[in-house]
Amino acid sequence: MAKASARYVCQSCGAVFPRWAGRCDACGGWNTIAEEAGLSTAGPEGKSLGAKKGRKTALLPLAGEEAAPPRLSSGVGEFDRALGGGLAQGSAVLLGGDPGIGKSTLMLQAMAGWARNGAKTIYVSGEEAAAQIRMRAARLGVADSPLMLATETNLRDILTTLDAEKPAVAAIDSIQTLWADHVESAPGSVAQLRAAVHELVSFAKRREVALLLVGHVTKEGQIAGPRVVEHMVDTVLYFEGERGHQFRILRAVKNRFGPADEIGVFEMTGAGLSEVRNPSALFLGDREKRAPGAAVFAGIEGTRPVLVEIQALVAPSSLGTPRRAAVGCDSARLAMILAVLEARCGVSFGAQDIYVAVSGGLKVTEPAADLAIAAALLSSWRDKSTPAEAAFFGEVSLSGALRPAPQADARIKEAEKLGFTRILAPDKTKPLAGGTARLDLLETLDDLVNRFGRPPGHE
Ligand code: TYD
Ligand code: MG
Repeated sequence: MAKASARYVCQSCGAVFPRWAGRCDACGGWNTIAEEAGLSTAGPEGKSLGAKKGRKTALLPLAGEEAAPPRLSSGVGEFDRALGGGLAQGSAVLLGGDPGIGKSTLMLQAMAGWARNGAKTIYVSGEEAAAQIRMRAARLGVADSPLMLATETNLRDILTTLDAEKPAVAAIDSIQTLWADHVESAPGSVAQLRAAVHELVSFAKRREVALLLVGHVTKEGQIAGPRVVEHMVDTVLYFEGERGHQFRILRAVKNRFGPADEIGVFEMTGAGLSEVRNPSALFLGDREKRAPGAAVFAGIEGTRPVLVEIQALVAPSSLGTPRRAAVGCDSARLAMILAVLEARCGVSFGAQDIYVAVSGGLKVTEPAADLAIAAALLSSWRDKSTPAEAAFFGEVSLSGALRPAPQADARIKEAEKLGFTRILAPDKTKPLAGGTARLDLLETLDDLVNRFGRPPGHE
């Protein structure tokens, strides 16, 4: 057999290169490419399947009575919500996030819940000693749960244990500590991660074990990130939050058993993660002191309407190329809104620095946030607060026209619930049947600029 030649694999996205490079062309990561021995599971390359016949696969009709998989509720409502209504039996779930964001805490709380609800549950940790986990369990107030612990990193031993114990739910914390002895590369490499997760997921599917895998998002190329195994699992959840903020958002980015983009909202406290049932109230924060440069966006996260405050600061720049910084929203989207304001409405920010931030550490990805971002910018620029009773939503097109946003009813309803009485939205947005808020409809972005008024020389 030919000697397996070395390959160079990006530890962030898994792209393979014939030689080392400082930057991965596939994902743009710097210094993420590392040398790896060829995958032994890949088989001898360049060889065809040969003439040996396989078995004929049964072909099935599309129609049929299929019961939905039973769901296990963890009792942590926001976790169950992000999963699409509880953990589907026999599904494989990946929980990714930055180190220290609270993945192990969340996992321990949820696992303790499943165990309490009667499912046989095993938590395998490769990162912490049993004493540490027990201490954490006491702090979280879940020490009385019949959850069972194991501290192990050897994949073969873990599979043997799961095979013997036959749990309904098993968690592995973290996949980067796993060591599969049939793969030559170091633990944490792409080859190890792929092989170990592949073995675990096929075991879980065979035995109908619901499997939860914790994976650290990594910035450097020393260990592989969870993205390289996203395609192998049914559900991918990312746990996000700003350092220094106590709020954490659990976001489903892929879900074969529920809606993607569903979120769960948590707050990190001294006694673990507590659920936030009314995220809008939280993201709106302290809205008494209303300074210019803020606008409330009526958004949708997954299936849930969420109101957030968008803040903007427009300040004279001392730099040749003024700064544009966006925290919590897309900077390309911000650039587009600025370009439309300049080209279609005659509002130029050419000599000004611009900062836009979303309150509470939420990431807003919807195009429907355009109108609120524009309102925050104009409010800061004119030094005029947006009306305290107003919420905004609507997409800005390159022509300067406003496009209606999906699920307008849900947005208006949530805004009304939180006491907003005026909704600024694109033309043709239908009022809510029986609603109390006044719709203030705008046809173009220019209409919004006119609400704030233009300074002399800008007419
Ligand atoms: P952890 O779950 O260990 O993070 P991860 O597994 O994602 O690396 O959480 C680490 C942080 O959470 C740590 O900085 C301390 C904080 N924390 C609390 O604030 N309260 C708590 O009750 C617990 C258990 C942790
Ligand atoms: Mg951890």
